[in-house]
Amino acid sequence: MLKIVKKHLKEVKSFYSENDLKIEEFRIKYNGKKGVLNKLFKSFRDVPEKEKKEFGKVLNELKKEINNKILNLQNKLIKKVSSVNNDLSKPGFPYKLGSFHPLSIVENKILDIFSKIGFIISEGPEIEDDWHNFTALNLPEFHPARDMQDTFFVQTNPDILLRTHTSSVQVRYMEENNPPLRIVSPGRVYRNEAISARAHCLFHQVEGLYIDRKVSFADLKQTLIYFAESLFGKSKIRLRPSYFPFTEPSAEVDIYWGLDNEIDHKITKGTGWLEIMGCGMVDPNVLKNCNIDPDEFSGYAFGMGIERIAMLLYQIDDIRVFYENDIRFLDQFKSI
Ligand code: DAH
Repeated sequence: MLKIVKKHLKEVKSFYSENDLKIEEFRIKYNGKKGVLNKLFKSFRDVPEKEKKEFGKVLNELKKEINNKILNLQNKLIKKVSSVNNDLSKPGFPYKLGSFHPLSIVENKILDIFSKIGFIISEGPEIEDDWHNFTALNLPEFHPARDMQDTFFVQTNPDILLRTHTSSVQVRYMEENNPPLRIVSPGRVYRNEAISARAHCLFHQVEGLYIDRKVSFADLKQTLIYFAESLFGKSKIRLRPSYFPFTEPSAEVDIYWGLDNEIDHKITKGTGWLEIMGCGMVDPNVLKNCNIDPDEFSGYAFGMGIERIAMLLYQIDDIRVFYENDIRFLDQFKSI
């Protein structure tokens, strides 16, 4: 019995570590509830009478040695850690700085441009109901224009779907607020499309809406010129008549990009013009659906794809790079 205690004593004396885990391991082994020390104290009564005195002496020595050892090593560790962490004059760790995703950069630019002229940001849910995504926007059930937006439905309930455009937010905002209204609504949208260089089943849009008394098409056009100039530095735009169920009249907006070099020719398909968004005067039916009197109020709306704009701004020819999160691609947007 005595031999065992002496063996532990030797082991304890020679133990040394600066590793916090090893020190804790040592503490548990010797000082833990089921540790060596407790076991030895328990075995004291089995020690033959004549050895008891010597056994007790060495055991107490072992106990002292263990406690001192743990205290010393722990103190050493604390000193070491605090000397590393508390020196405020030391240079910081060279953490690599991250950067915004190009889609966030473009979204922020768009929102900034509109917030300068009084638009506020309003967001809505990505899981929508039929009313806000379609019906209230003058797209009743069986309307053929629903086909333009291949929809993902949630489970088997045809009333619940992943929104196909952020136009749904204008409905929500008009239902909750009285004119004058001026909002931009950024967010994710979903369409059941095959993924390719030009299309993705998930992408991002910014929707804009302005409702007040006597809002005219001229107001819309002036806002679009301001936007094109602010974002692209190009103010030549044209409005091509188009069709959207929620606006009447509707138009597609092209900006004149130029034909200065080979890339210009490529991205504008030799025309010099690029389509950037859809727009129009809010259809009176939509106003009525949102409890706004079309005889008193009018307004315009527009909607654009953030990916499309980012691809134009940064000359990217494959939409998929936005979702791959390849660090070599993202790193290029550090200084923007
Ligand atoms: N919601 C349309 C789309 O996803 C975009 C759009 C077009 C929005 C014209 C509008 C608008 O507000 O007036 O394709």
